[in-house]
Amino acid sequence: MSTPRPDPRSVSILFVCLGNICRSPLAEGVFRHRVGLAGLDAWVHIESAGTGGWHVGEPPDPRSVDVARRNGVSLDGQSARRVQPDDFDAFDLIVAMDGSNLRDLRRAAGSGGRAELVLLRDFDPDPGDGDVPDPYYGGPDGFDRVFDMIDRSCSALIEHVRQTM
Ligand code: 4NP
Repeated sequence: MSTPRPDPRSVSILFVCLGNICRSPLAEGVFRHRVGLAGLDAWVHIESAGTGGWHVGEPPDPRSVDVARRNGVSLDGQSARRVQPDDFDAFDLIVAMDGSNLRDLRRAAGSGGRAELVLLRDFDPDPGDGDVPDPYYGGPDGFDRVFDMIDRSCSALIEHVRQTM
């Protein structure tokens, strides 16, 4: 008997920032919301993680929860975790929020792992410098700006994902 394989149409995506409490939880929530609207929930597995471990086990930052809620997106049930070595084999696509996260991920992956490593704003039609800037030490308007970047990028990412299914 052959080993069951995942549905070839399925795709798994891990969003990564530094702390996994501000940007990547927002990206996870926004992307999950859009995947649900597109009726693709059964085929897309979504998680988020941080390259750092300071906030492991914590819920998303209240400012991320607030900007998400104001835009109709729930971050309920999320809890910060750190990127694990297994993630580089478990996920198809690992999506970094900024260039520093991407460098840390490349270093951690070494030459192993099947995951493709990309920047979220590679998909942004208005990509600026390519980074979703860290809003942690700024004011609440930083979270609104970050939300807009993530939302635009996730909208394009879903089309990319559709083409790979
Ligand atoms: P995030 O923001 O990477 O978007 O989750 C940060 C959260 C916490 C810290 C840095 C960035 N920190 O230094 O604790």
